[in-house]
Amino acid sequence: MKKTVLVSGGAGFIGSHVTVELLEAGYEVVVADNMSNCDMTCFEGVKKITGRADLPFEKVDFCDAVATEALFDKYKIDAVIHFAAFKAVGESVDKPVMYYKNNLGSFLNVLEAAQTHGGCNVLFSSSATVYGQPEKLPVTEESPRQPATSPYGATKQMCEDILQDTVKASGGAIKGILLRYFNPIGAHPSALIGELPRGVPNNLVPFITQTAIGKRECLSIFGDDYPTPDGTCLRDYIDIVDLAKAHVFAVTRMIEGKMKKDCEVFNVGTGRPVSVMELVTAFEKVNGLKLNYKIAPRRPGDVTAVWADPTLANKELGWKATRSVEETLKAAWAWEKHLAGK
Ligand code: WQD
Repeated sequence: MKKTVLVSGGAGFIGSHVTVELLEAGYEVVVADNMSNCDMTCFEGVKKITGRADLPFEKVDFCDAVATEALFDKYKIDAVIHFAAFKAVGESVDKPVMYYKNNLGSFLNVLEAAQTHGGCNVLFSSSATVYGQPEKLPVTEESPRQPATSPYGATKQMCEDILQDTVKASGGAIKGILLRYFNPIGAHPSALIGELPRGVPNNLVPFITQTAIGKRECLSIFGDDYPTPDGTCLRDYIDIVDLAKAHVFAVTRMIEGKMKKDCEVFNVGTGRPVSVMELVTAFEKVNGLKLNYKIAPRRPGDVTAVWADPTLANKELGWKATRSVEETLKAAWAWEKHLAGK
């Protein structure tokens, strides 16, 4: 009997790529999303990539406890991967109540429904943002979490604690894995799914590809006076398909009972620090184009450098990032051209 994974926020950028990998690994998947931050482009793309025209989709706002419970009544859920959350750092500073209400409320409803249905495996989509500006690099899972620098980051830390406490109190009925992503970038090699930010992109790579396609006038590089080799910030950019595959390894670890603790934490990164300027230069080179960019003032809240030590995930999950930055930036550009009908 196939195991079923509920992917909350599954019509979004990361959720849709994870759904593809879960289906290709032989899992049944239920995609649930309230469509507040995406349209059906990626969900339709997932069906084309996997040939699963019958892929179940449920329009659900996880802040609605009754609707969340009904989902768990309707499907026998063996694991839930929780992506449903708002994720714009800057917006969270302007609208903290909206972020706490949505990001905490939705996760609490999922956990409550899991409890009332006899428990299940819960994988929470966390973020390297919980580490703030680490004192020591690369970052391991033992690195201390720093005080959050935005309500968005605070909701990630709070949801991590909520899951740990819920697992502890569940007497084994609920197992948890926290995946701390670094910087997910790129798109599926089919160019049928990818990042589709609403409005002006906050993140670097969609701003690069939208500038290259002509949707944006000019890329601003936020600061070139940081204490780094070329003066621009360093990040651990991880290919979205590599990231998606990590979720399959993590869900399988839970479902097959291979966990060493009831709640585990893994950094999902490449271990490879790349600067903004290096990324821009690589994008130009691999796609044979010139990008219009300028140096702008630093963006408040940016950390100078953060990248992962992925040893634990490599060893325990048996997962490793394999795609090069060049391969990822090629896929990102192919996706942007697909969106433009090119
Ligand atoms: C990367 C670098 C910018 C845009 C955030 C969240 C994280 C995760 C990913 C949410 C920084 C620079 C960016 C631009 C630029 N989750 N940049 N010009 O801030 O590392 O991480 O997004 O989705 O939790 O914290 O990612 O892509 O915004 O920035 O120079 O137009 O690119 O200054 O150095 P970040 P980012």
